[in-house]
Amino acid sequence: MAAQLREEKVFKDPVHKYIYVQDETIWNLINTKEFQRLRRIRQLGTSFMTFHGAEHSRFSHSLGVYEVARRIISQFERNGYADWPKEERLLCLCSALLHDIGHGPFSHSLEQVFGTSHEDWTCKLVLGDTEVNRVLSAADPELPKKVSDVICKSYGKEIVVSLISSQLDADRMDYLLRDAYYAGVNYGTFDLERILRVIRPYKGHIVVKESGMHAIEDYLMSRYQMYWQVYFHPVTRSSEIVLRKIFERAKKLYGDSGYDFRFLLGPLAKLLEGEMTVEDYAELDEAYVQMTIKQWSKEPDPILADLCARFMHRRLFQYVALDKVDESLEAELRAGMLACGIDPDYYMGIDYLTDLPYDVYRPGDEEESLPIWLLDGQERLAEISRKSDIIRSIGSIHGGKHHIYFPAEPLRDKRDRLPAGLRDVLRLDG
Ligand code: NI
Repeated sequence: MAAQLREEKVFKDPVHKYIYVQDETIWNLINTKEFQRLRRIRQLGTSFMTFHGAEHSRFSHSLGVYEVARRIISQFERNGYADWPKEERLLCLCSALLHDIGHGPFSHSLEQVFGTSHEDWTCKLVLGDTEVNRVLSAADPELPKKVSDVICKSYGKEIVVSLISSQLDADRMDYLLRDAYYAGVNYGTFDLERILRVIRPYKGHIVVKESGMHAIEDYLMSRYQMYWQVYFHPVTRSSEIVLRKIFERAKKLYGDSGYDFRFLLGPLAKLLEGEMTVEDYAELDEAYVQMTIKQWSKEPDPILADLCARFMHRRLFQYVALDKVDESLEAELRAGMLACGIDPDYYMGIDYLTDLPYDVYRPGDEEESLPIWLLDGQERLAEISRKSDIIRSIGSIHGGKHHIYFPAEPLRDKRDRLPAGLRDVLRLDG
């Protein structure tokens, strides 16, 4: 039996009002330096450049996911559902709390440049020589391995994994509400209390009672809206591209032995080298990266300095949206940029975004994301898109438009060097 705190701890939270901690292990995990680091990493990377309120941290999201998981489990326990494996409570709560612990600064952009993955780092932080590992091991020597298995979805019990990672999980329920709240938009809202009331454990799955179908439709519509209105916002994508180009340039310069950075702190050099220990990684945060970008805006390399100044002062790339960008247009764009004396490797980005709001389950599919099951009054299970026209139709919406990103200045000044067709595509004459 996991040790309980003598007095329950409470966090004030704008999304869930209060977050309650009763277990000593959870309290000790929150107080590790690896978990506290999440205060210095924003939940939505560069989205604050588009939605200025979106400065919330992965710390608040992680606590929120823990709280949603805690409420789900406590509902299962109150109802005395025999299909809920009671002994998995602490494992679920620890996994919910730690599921994002491996996120680095601006993860989505930096992971692309350095080929790292936050899932890998999560496992390394849970299994390695860390404070988190020591707290988990003190509760149960098997716990670190189990937590890493749950987060990597290889744990043997689907019901435990699906609470943390499925199409209706504690992670998504928290981030949709939290991101909507901080971005200041209405799209992401749905009735969490209602969803918590209509889910239950059933034969190894978490299922939704049929009467709760409309609450789930609402939740999936929220997800659909949040992706297109917030997460994929073209201005946010533009800032991510500028950030990615900064680190691509820095990596190139670091590799070319001739270049001497005027400013380069230890863990960032290790990142550029591609050799990071768990300790180096746990040092990295967004304060670090932002300080570096500020300093790099004074580097002698003109491309690095310019990109950093753009990021810092939000002089982002402009974009145009097209139905399709094929290889020949891409080649023309590159040639046009070169004719203007602009290096397309660092000043052009082409983006095509896709997301499935709900991944309709087809028998025989390799399951990418665990489906949502409905349970009817006769105790029959049906995959939710069989019953809901709304979910079936949003399940077939894939992607949007292609976007081309480029610096409006200096391209506009040099536009007479471009063929008329390209000036048209990039809308430089207007
Ligand atoms: Ni998360």
